[in-house]
This record gives sequence, structure tokens and C-alpha cells, in this order.
Amino acid sequence: MADKKNINLNDYAFRVTAAGRVNVIGEHVDYCGGKVFPAALTLNNAVYVRPNGTNKVNLSWTTLDSTVTLDLDKLESYVNLKYGNYQAGSLLKWRESGHALIGCDMVQDCGVPFGSGLSSSAAIEVSTIAAMCAITNTHMDKVQIALQAQRAEREYVGVNCGIMDQYASACGKAGNAMLLDCNSLECEYVPVDTGDCSLVIANCCKPHSLVESKYNERRAETEQALNALSGLGISCLAQVTPNMLESAQSILTPAVFKRVKHVAEECERVRLAAKAMKTGDMAALGKLLNASHESLQKLYEVTGNELDALAYAAQAHPSCLGSRMTGGGFGGCTVSLVRSDDVEDFKKFVAERYTKQTGYIPEFYKTEIGDGITVQKL
Ligand code: GLA
Repeated sequence: MADKKNINLNDYAFRVTAAGRVNVIGEHVDYCGGKVFPAALTLNNAVYVRPNGTNKVNLSWTTLDSTVTLDLDKLESYVNLKYGNYQAGSLLKWRESGHALIGCDMVQDCGVPFGSGLSSSAAIEVSTIAAMCAITNTHMDKVQIALQAQRAEREYVGVNCGIMDQYASACGKAGNAMLLDCNSLECEYVPVDTGDCSLVIANCCKPHSLVESKYNERRAETEQALNALSGLGISCLAQVTPNMLESAQSILTPAVFKRVKHVAEECERVRLAAKAMKTGDMAALGKLLNASHESLQKLYEVTGNELDALAYAAQAHPSCLGSRMTGGGFGGCTVSLVRSDDVEDFKKFVAERYTKQTGYIPEFYKTEIGDGITVQKL
């Protein structure tokens, strides 16, 4: 068993994990009520947990030297902690939703690279709540856990996110992508069968943080657009069809119109991408990935030089069928569809081009599509 800092992990009661995720397509549409198409990864956050008979949660990390103690009576007060704020927020929201908390020791073993756009924060939030469920013998309603984890991110951490990351982190299924309707939370599991191609995830390695990025600004623009378009009889922006765009153009400012155009067209791409995945049409899927990136660059304006350089370097490789940024943007990762036989050559080619252009060295992750929450009794 992993024992990275001489912590005897065998002394814990449970090992609980929640996943990082890659979003195949459907970016910046979850908070507009659209459908998204993410998949949980085997890169996950593991929490080793045991009750400690106090009203304190002692946090430690396999990868950090710090330890943090959270007083269960003061969970509101840890907003500005560098480490431990996600855990405090998640526990607070879990209690606010009517669940019991008890004191415990939690060792966090995070295998999702921080700030990578692969939802390390959702994995931490979801696994912390799930770990609390395990030691309090509470039934695990994964959707409820995802919803409270999302509240932690929005109300405690301050990123006004949608539900995609926490849902994928909690409810993912190995080998499947999730066609998730973010309005109804209906989810269709779609086997990821990419034939002779593989999904390759690359990190541009430019540090980023959604708290400081324009994420909340984009979300505010979409809310502004929904208000302005109330005359079209829509209840969320994802209901704007490509046909309605012309009327929208005359009502909205040019910048806000671009955001709406992205949302409408991205929703259509999600529909087509799910169809392409189901019918094994990798060429069609690849083209949709490229179109999504271009739209996120030019219409939604959430990519930045590094993600553009990485996606376009990937698209230039002859064995790459498509490539796009994945996640919130402004840094983080791309996902590319690449012929499996040529993956090593692809990585070399992309790394060379990307580093030459930006000076950053990209990282590639070896990861599979994994499960959401898992609980193992130790
Ligand atoms: C972040 C948010 C998600 C979603 C994506 C963009 O990952 O947490 O809710 O909005 O950005 O698709």
C-alpha cells in the first residue's frame, strides 16, 4: 500500500476515492443547462480515514509536509487556508444539507495534478464528503454528494461552477463517458470505444486558477444574455438553437453574442459527438473536437496562448484526428484523439513544437477512464 511519508495507512478504517475527469466535449455549457460529455479518470484523490473520537478533523497529505486541524464547530472560518479549505467547505455544506459530521483523521493522497483542469478540486471535495459518509455509516447518494460538493466550490471556494466536475467525479463509471443533462441531471453512460484511436491528455503546465481567472465573468455574461433573451421563450441558454442566433444578435452586445453563439453551437456539437462515439465515427468526433477548441478560443475566449499552442501543435500531427482544451480553460489540459500506434511519436512531436513556441514543457498523462466514488474497507 502507498506509504509516501511513513504514514501507516493500514491503521485507517476506509480508503475512499473520487475521480478527476476529462471532458470529451461540451465546454462552458453546464451552467447554461446544456449537455456535457465528461468521463471520470483513474487519476483520483484517495482519502484514508478513521474516526478519532474528537470534534476535530486532522488533515494530512501524502504529498505535502503540512498538517491542518479543522474544528467542526468553526468550519466557516477556514476559507483562506492554502490547504484544507476545500475539505472544510465540503464538510460544512454536507452538514448544512442535514448530515452528521464526526471528528476523524484524514490522509489525502491526491493523484490528480493540481491546477491541471482535470478537476482536482472536485475530486477532493467529493472524496472528503464520501469519506465522512463511510465513517458515519451514511448511505451514499452520489448525486447528493456531487451537489453539496458543487455548493462548496461555489459558496466556499468562490468559483461559480456548474455541476459537471463534481457529478463526473462522484458518478463516473470505468470505460464510460457520461452524457449528462445539466438541467435534469439525467445521465446516459456511453461506452468509450475509440477503435484504433486513444484519448491523450496533455497539460500545458502553465499554472492557472479558476478563482482568479475570468471564469466567473463568463458565467455572469451568460446570465446577462439569458435575461436579455427572455423574449425568446427560453428558460436556459442551452435552449438557444442555432436558428435563434440571428434574432439574438440584434439584442445582445457583440461580446455577449459571441458567448451565446458558442453555447448554442457547442450544445449541437455534444449531440453529434455522442452520436459519433456510439457509431464509432472517429473522424467525425475529431472534427468536432477541433471545432470546439476554435470556438472556445475565438467566441468564448477562455483558451490563452499556451492552450492554443498545445491544441494546434496536436492538430498538426498526421495521426491526430482532433484536439481541444478540456475543463475551464486559461491553462490546464488538452484532450486529443490520436491513432494508438502513433501516440509516442505524437507526444514527441507536440512537446517539441509546444516548447519551442511557449518555453513550457508539457506533461502527458497515462490514465484510463475509471470509476467515480469507490469505498474500500481496510
Ligand atoms: C470548470 C467548471 C465546470 C465547467 C467547466 C467548463 O471545470 O468547474 O463546471 O463549467 O469549467 O466546461
